[in-house]
Amino acid sequence: MSEPINVVVTGAAGQIAYSLLYQLAAGSVFGPEQPINLRLLDIPPMMEVLKGVVMELEDLALPLLRDVLPTDEPAAAFKDAAAAFLVGAMPRKQGMERKDLLSANVKIFKVQGEALDKYARKDVKVLVVGNPANTNALICSHYAPSIPKENFTAMTRLDQNRAQAALAGRLGVQVDKVENVIIWGNHSSTQYPDAGQATVALPSGTKPVPAAINDDDWLNGTFLETIQKRGAAVIAARKMSSAMSAAKAAGDHMRDWWTGTKPGQWVSMGVVSDGSYGIPKDIVFSFPVTIENKTFKIVQGLPLNDFAKSKLDVTSKELQEERAEATDVLQK
Ligand code: NAI
Repeated sequence: MSEPINVVVTGAAGQIAYSLLYQLAAGSVFGPEQPINLRLLDIPPMMEVLKGVVMELEDLALPLLRDVLPTDEPAAAFKDAAAAFLVGAMPRKQGMERKDLLSANVKIFKVQGEALDKYARKDVKVLVVGNPANTNALICSHYAPSIPKENFTAMTRLDQNRAQAALAGRLGVQVDKVENVIIWGNHSSTQYPDAGQATVALPSGTKPVPAAINDDDWLNGTFLETIQKRGAAVIAARKMSSAMSAAKAAGDHMRDWWTGTKPGQWVSMGVVSDGSYGIPKDIVFSFPVTIENKTFKIVQGLPLNDFAKSKLDVTSKELQEERAEATDVLQK
């Protein structure tokens, strides 16, 4: 058994955390040999609720779970953190403009970036789930200059999982038969779910998904819109946003970051752009990546047709606008 690592979950009294914490304590993310100390951050009015979550964590009776600290102090939460799930964010309230939402959240992620910079391990892996996730991750990294910017990522894995499941459904195969679907760009309705490079393992052999489906209108129309609007569809039905599937995706993202991707397989993560595929630098953009030794590499050289290029352009423009709005808020 290794020494326990400190794992932070913010928004720990919320609904995504409620599903995520079990996965962490059960060893599904950091593995069955890695004990963990949980650092649970939320805001002062939620401390009573958080007490109940801590009681339930105790009652799981899981041996990998060691010390649990519920707190409303970022300094205490981020001390010696090896991994952080930044789930907590200000929810969109009725009548709230996108700008107001961005403004409230950018401030939260500035504070948490500063706390990570001061108190966390320099190799901490940070996954931002709270929306607007890409821009929150960018801000967080900006305020933690002593931690490499490659250590800050935003979650688009839920979109990837949704896309994979939708393609498998259309092809009538088990979900794990479909690989390498890509989410490009922002975790928002401008994202580009791209099945162009995806493959499907059929009894007759592995085939490109576009050839197996043989319906580009569906791939560029219904499929794309269904994935872009899936979050809204879940809210409309459940009256609450995706939580079980979001928590599972957060676990998938961190597990692959921690343990690596399988040969020939890639996953989508929002990472600070290095200019690949002509995307402007210094925005957090979702790319296909491979991961080895806890380090990701953006998959290079994938062909993009004019349709794909136009979609990348739209989502990258939105991210540049969000960055400008965030900078504006922080300079005031
Ligand atoms: P929730 O409202 O159930 O929980 C959020 C929690 O964050 C609350 O307990 C709240 O008190 C806490 N919080 C607020 N400000 C905080 C701060 N400064 N520090 C620590 N905690 C703070 O929300 P839920 O459903 O758990 O969703 C969390 C976030 O994840 C939302 O922003 C949501 O939009 C986002 N999300 C992102 C997805 C993605 O794919 N990237 C998918 C689904 C949700």
